[in-house]
Amino acid sequence: REQNAQLTEKILKLKEERNAVILAHNYQIGEVQDIADYVGDSFGLSRVAADTDADVIVFCGVHFMAEGAAILAPEKTVLLPEILAGCPMADMVTADALREKKKEHPNATVVTYVNSSAAVKAESDVCVTSSNALNVVNSLDTEEILFVPDMNLGSFIADRTDKRMIMWEGYCITHHRVRAADVDAARERHPDAVVVVHPECRPEVVKKADHAFSTGGILKFARESEHKKLIIGTEMGLIHRLEKENPEKEFYLLHQGLVCPNMKYTNLEKVAAALENMQPVITVDDEVREGARRALERMLAVS
Ligand code: 13P
Ligand code: SF4
Repeated sequence: REQNAQLTEKILKLKEERNAVILAHNYQIGEVQDIADYVGDSFGLSRVAADTDADVIVFCGVHFMAEGAAILAPEKTVLLPEILAGCPMADMVTADALREKKKEHPNATVVTYVNSSAAVKAESDVCVTSSNALNVVNSLDTEEILFVPDMNLGSFIADRTDKRMIMWEGYCITHHRVRAADVDAARERHPDAVVVVHPECRPEVVKKADHAFSTGGILKFARESEHKKLIIGTEMGLIHRLEKENPEKEFYLLHQGLVCPNMKYTNLEKVAAALENMQPVITVDDEVREGARRALERMLAVS
């Protein structure tokens, strides 16, 4: 505890000196969320990164998120405190593989989840996050969509749109662990709780749940709904904020395997070290950046 207090003091001092802002995803560990200037979902964080006046962005999340900030704010220094924090789903598609797939579907509009590399974004027409995916897809004036890389989020959209969706077969290894039977078991344990899941869960899990939202959407639902007991089907880090914001409510994790190890690599020591050493810096080559920025900005314009 004392060590955390010292680290927090060091971080706040360095943050002043560097004119830095600390952004944290909702899946980060509690201590990191608590020292961040802004905690949010992928969409909210990309907005803040694009608009901030800070010179330095410390991105407490995974690689594609920091890359997104570097794409939208190239004049800023973007730091990712743990360089090994990646996203296994983002790694399930490469720019080369996507180029090949596009040849098979020349008329399809390529819609890419932000959980992807800058090079993959640069091969895409538009990006989406889980909070705006349906709106963005429905805003397109084409009928055929190649959706990359999350087949589960893709199915979630396919069930709610008239567009013809071709799916890349990627998935989040964390959310994909949850099975339909786990929803039944959780409901048996907590019969009067509402079940809210992330659309990265399998379609049969989403169908059994009462609602599916992005992490920001789950937070909003928890704040605004009458329900006092909620079963949460997304990465466990979200429970920290849910409990902090709603002390009178009870939250139960749908499945004990809902842990993303990559999101847990970042801690206060690494945040302090990143600010002290101004490393590891995330950059994107100009050529790739231009294409990726176009896809991201098209998303921001719709949302
Ligand atoms: P959101 O916070 O946008 O819902 O994203 C979930 C996620 O898996 C990020 O890696
Ligand atoms: Fe990637 Fe899933 Fe971890 Fe999000 S929770 S960073 S999608 S592996």
